[in-house]
This record gives sequence, structure tokens and C-alpha cells, in this order.
Amino acid sequence: MSAALRLHKYIANCGYCSRRHAELLIAAGLVRVNDRIAAEPGHTIDPRRDRVAINGEDIVPPPRHTLMLHKPAGFISSTHDTHERLTVMDLLPRNLAADGVVPVGRLDLDTEGLLLMTNDGELLHRITHPRYECPKEYLARVRGHVTPQKLERLAQGVLLDDGPAQPAAILRAERRGEETEIAIELTEGRKREVKRMFAAIGHEVVRLVRLRIGPLRLGDLAPGAWRALSGEESAALRRACGLR
Ligand code: URA
Repeated sequence: MSAALRLHKYIANCGYCSRRHAELLIAAGLVRVNDRIAAEPGHTIDPRRDRVAINGEDIVPPPRHTLMLHKPAGFISSTHDTHERLTVMDLLPRNLAADGVVPVGRLDLDTEGLLLMTNDGELLHRITHPRYECPKEYLARVRGHVTPQKLERLAQGVLLDDGPAQPAAILRAERRGEETEIAIELTEGRKREVKRMFAAIGHEVVRLVRLRIGPLRLGDLAPGAWRALSGEESAALRRACGLR
């Protein structure tokens, strides 16, 4: 971690709790920096020099992990499920969850493909926030034959119930019998966005696979398998999100 960081952000980056919750802990006088209570909201620290503790526990960053998972259908993209269904955490070793690794954004229960998992809060924020326009490529198999006119309508943007939506690009479209396979790129990730965009032009998505996030491709990673990113892949991903 670099120098001069807001205290609540440091605590969240260490995986102790959310930024908002850290603000509450700070305001409640529960956070100590170098053995002194730090109760001001804007308190900054230098993580290389300062010692942060909450209730006597030293708050230190866990080892950083960023990995890619091939999410199969049938797994929830969250860390817990109130209905006791399988989550993507069930596909990873326990120590990663203990170090605060969480899914980067969400794929629907029936959506497959590339899901990044990390305990790097800033990276997660950059990949998921629309402001950073990190492109995601999906392969959608939709019912029926999508005419060039409908594709053009989609390319121009459609109106969804939470506002207009426009793909960054429609990369290719191929007819497959009674269905059409379309590769589409988006730079935002609203709920069920790809499915709702196709529904807006009258086509139901029957299968959805995410193929790429920024510079990272799913490649031949088997369904249910995961692997750590290489140093080069991490660097390329960070560059693509405007991080060093
Ligand atoms: N768009 C969708 O409709 N579903 C997903 O899971 C991801 C993007």
C-alpha cells in the first residue's frame, strides 16, 4: 500500500470491514493509530509507518490475491447465500475467503464464464464502476434469428426500465439454426443488463457466457476451475483500469 491513505479506506483495504463500517468504528473511537484514538473522520495514515489497531487487534493487509474463475451455471456470485445455495466461494480454497477474496461484480445464477475474484478493493471498484469503462465481452445465445435491423437498433441503444442502455460494441453475430449467437461488449454492469437489452429487441437469451474482462480472456479454463493471474496479467488489468 502506498503512503497517505484515509484511515477508513486502509481498514477496508485490509479486509476488516466495509469503508462505511470503518467510518462508524472511527467515529465511535474504537480505532487506534500508534496507540492513540483516531476519531476524526478524515484521519490519514502512512501504512508503512503507522500502526492501526481495533479492539487491540493489529489491522494489517492480507496477502493480495487476484484470480480468475470459470463460473459454471448454478452458482451464486456472492460470498453467502441466505437460501443455502452453492456460491462461487464453494469453488475456491477456504484460505482465499479468509483473506477477503470476493467476486468482482456479479453474474446471474445461470450465467457462465469469466469471473474475477480479488481482495484488492480498489481494483474491484475500478473494474465494476462504470466511470472506469472496463469493457466486458459476453457471448449471448438468443432464441430466433436476429435481423441486421434489430442489431442496429441494439447498437443505437435501447430503453430499459432503469434508463437507456447501449453496448460499447457488437462484435459479431452468427445464426445457429433457430438461434443466434452474438458477442457483445459492455462497459457497465447493471442487473441482468445483457438479457434485458436482448429482451428489448424481442429476443430471449438462452445462454450467456462472459468471455473477457478488460485484457483478460477466459481462454480454455475449464468450468468450475480457477487460477491466479500471472504477474503480466495483473499488470495489464491494473493498467486497463488506470492503476499502476
Ligand atoms: N448481463 C446479464 O444479463 N446477466 C449477467 O449475468 C451478466 C450480464
